[in-house]
Amino acid sequence: PDTATISAQGELLIAGRNLSELARSYGTPLYIFDRATIINACTHYKQAFSTYYNASTVRILYASKAYISPMLARLLAEQDLGLDVVSGGEMLVAQRVAFPMERVSFHGNNKSEAELRLALELGVGRIVLDNWSELERLTRLARETGMRPAVLVRVAPDIDTDTHKYLQTGHASAKFGFPLSSGEARAALLRILQDDQLELVGIHAHSGTLLRETRPYEECIERLLTLACEIHQETGWWPEEVSPGGGWGIETVEARAMPEIAMLARALQRTVELLQPRLPAEMPTLVLEPGRSIIARAGLAIYRIGATKSTPGGVNYLFVDGGMADNIRPALYGSLYTALAPEHLLKPAEQTYCLSGRYCESGDMLIDQVVLPTLQEGDLICLPTAGAYCLPMASNYNLVPRPAVIMIDEERIDVMERRETYADVLGRYNN
Ligand code: LLP
Repeated sequence: PDTATISAQGELLIAGRNLSELARSYGTPLYIFDRATIINACTHYKQAFSTYYNASTVRILYASKAYISPMLARLLAEQDLGLDVVSGGEMLVAQRVAFPMERVSFHGNNKSEAELRLALELGVGRIVLDNWSELERLTRLARETGMRPAVLVRVAPDIDTDTHKYLQTGHASAKFGFPLSSGEARAALLRILQDDQLELVGIHAHSGTLLRETRPYEECIERLLTLACEIHQETGWWPEEVSPGGGWGIETVEARAMPEIAMLARALQRTVELLQPRLPAEMPTLVLEPGRSIIARAGLAIYRIGATKSTPGGVNYLFVDGGMADNIRPALYGSLYTALAPEHLLKPAEQTYCLSGRYCESGDMLIDQVVLPTLQEGDLICLPTAGAYCLPMASNYNLVPRPAVIMIDEERIDVMERRETYADVLGRYNN
């Protein structure tokens, strides 16, 4: 987080607060979000794009799937961001805090009829259509309700990205979007225009996530606008918005030097300046959907070491009280994290540890090898950059309740999610 400092005693402070005190008050595992870091990230995005083509034509939607809660949604509304939601649940979070629904965009590749109805009822601003079934389903609902929802067509832009296989979404055989290369994207746009039951406002694509280069975004905008030009020639329609999705990366253990978001803004600016003379009408509004690059650095996980073990093969395990059920990313993607001993930052790092969770599975490894000061049962471990895609993918594996989540700044500590109880976990079973 941006507010991290070290006390004279060698303890990690966030927003001036001692992590061991927070761990004592709220228990562990504990996820902490630093409000200032979230606000800074929003400001950063807004500033980076303030010089884009025409500042009034950029909209930033936060991708809720990275992590959402009512408290966070309220903060994002105050920051003038919109929301990208992918389920009824995420929509209802927005509703709960009276998030301006016209700034909400509904995504996903299998939106149920009930979810589409909910979106219409709540007045969700945009529905992003992914495939023919959805297109038919929504057209039917529009006819039935007499509404004319604003939609974008999601395109699989056939763009390769340099990221984990599971995180690639823009290639021709991706599960998301109407393929561009087969002509289906074009056919979907024409179909909507012909039918006129839906209000076609734009074209969308998302090439992948944890991206570090600007090339996929440049290619994406170019392809979407080229498609728009084709449709314009045939029908006279022109998009109000185009979106290359989200996916901008962050500094990770694998990629330490992450380019600034300003670099993406400059690259997109160059791309649209080059394209402008070929366009038949005004440059559409650019819609961005960052998730991770807004929230990842603001969050950290705090665990307590419950046991240690050294094997004959020389592995020194530290067993913490969380693990793969609150952070599946190392097991699922082989993601690398770092760890700190937040109470002992001035002690020399001298021991190589294997940081392992409490779950009954050998794959429950948070970090294979990490060099830390010599630690013992009762010490705390902190995993920074745990704000994105950890809690949202959490489970109750082994029927362990999920962690508490707090949001802090210098003035206040808010419990954003209370710790789950056994009653929560067992409450859903019938006898
Ligand atoms: N927009 C669309 C349409 C998306 O599919 C995604 C991510 C985003 C925006 C936000 O991407 P971000 O800016 O957060 O990278 N569970 C994986 C990430 C899956 C992301 C899926 N879609 C992980 O832990 O890395």
